[in-house]
Amino acid sequence: MSDESVLEEWVSQARSSFEATLSPAELENAKALYLGKSGRLTELMKGLSALSVEEKKSRGAAINQAKQAIEQALLERRQALAQAELDAQLRAEALDVSLPGRQRASGGGLHPVSLTLERIEAIFGSMGFDVAQGPEIETDWFNFTALNTPEDHPARSMHDTFYVEGGSEQAPNLLRTHTSPMQIRYAVQHVKKHRALLERGALMPEIRVIAPGRTYRVDSDATHSPMFHQCEGLWIGENVSFKDLKVVFTDFCRTFFESHDLVLRFRPSFFPFTEPSAEIDIQFSSGPLAGRWLEVAGSGQVHPNVVRNMGLDPERYIGFAFGMGPDRLTMLRYGVNDLRMFFDGDLRFLSQFR
Ligand code: PHE
Repeated sequence: MSDESVLEEWVSQARSSFEATLSPAELENAKALYLGKSGRLTELMKGLSALSVEEKKSRGAAINQAKQAIEQALLERRQALAQAELDAQLRAEALDVSLPGRQRASGGGLHPVSLTLERIEAIFGSMGFDVAQGPEIETDWFNFTALNTPEDHPARSMHDTFYVEGGSEQAPNLLRTHTSPMQIRYAVQHVKKHRALLERGALMPEIRVIAPGRTYRVDSDATHSPMFHQCEGLWIGENVSFKDLKVVFTDFCRTFFESHDLVLRFRPSFFPFTEPSAEIDIQFSSGPLAGRWLEVAGSGQVHPNVVRNMGLDPERYIGFAFGMGPDRLTMLRYGVNDLRMFFDGDLRFLSQFR
C-alpha cells in the first residue's frame, strides 16, 4: 500500500470510528488513536525529520491534509453529539400543552359571613366610619363594668358567658359576649390621641367607628350558635342624636339589602349602656319575608356613665351606638333558615356563595 492510500485509509477509519461513538467522552478516546500525543499522525510527523527537504514538503503536506480531514470529521461528530444531547433533553422536558389543565377540586371563595362583613365595612366606610378590631378574650371591665353593667347587675345574666382562665376571682377573663367593649377600647384610644385638644377645651374630632368580629355565648339552636358575629357601631360628637342613628341605620339597611322601600321600626328596649334603648326591626315590602318584622340590631343613645368611662364629659359629648348581627343579615340576604349551616364547614353549602 502506498503512503498516500494508508493516509486515506486512516482518514476513513477515523471517520467511521467517530461515527460509531455515542458520547463526547467516547469520541475523545477515539480521537487519541489518530491525533493524540502518540497517535498515528503525530508519530508520522515526528518521523519527517529523517527525510530530505523535498520529501518533507510533499510528505508533510499529505499528512497535514489527512490531519485536517480527521479534525473536520471530529468537529462534525462533536457537533452531532451535542445536538443529539440537546434533542434528548428537549424531548425529556417536553410539555404537552394540549393536555387539559389539572384543576383544584373547587376554587376558593369567601365565606358568606365574610362577604356580609365586607359589605358592612364598605357601606359604613362610605359614611366615614373607621373599622376597628378588638380582642375576643376580654376582661370583665371592658365587657361589662365599663359598659355600665356592674357586678350583680341583673343584665349580666342576660348573657350566658364563657369564662376563661386569667383575671381575678371577682373579675375573671371571658370570651366577649358582644362587640360593645370595643366602644370603650376605641373611644379611650381616640381620647388619648386628642388629649391636647380636650385639655384646651377645644372640640375633639368625632368618634365614628364600626367594630366587627366574633362573639361568644353559651347558646345553640337553629338561630343561635355559641360563636357568632356582631358588628358594633359608635358615633360620638357634640350634637349626635337619635335622629342621626335613625338616618344612618336606615340608610345602611336599604343599601345592604338593595331595597329602597325597606322600612325600619325602633322598638323600645333596655341595655345598661344605652338610654334610651331600642331594638331595630326591619320589614321587606316584597319577597318571601314581606310583611314580617325581623330584628337586626340593638341600639340606643350612649349612657352618660359610658361616655364618662370613655374619658369624655357627658355634658358635652353625646352619641349613639348599635350592635347588629351579621350572621342574621346573611341569613336574611340569602334566605338561609339555619344559622348553624354557616359554621358546619360543609363545602356543598358554602361554595354556593362564591
Ligand atoms: N351589645 C348589645 C347586644 O349584644 C347590642 C347593643 C349594642 C345595644 C350597642 C345597644 C348599643 O345585644
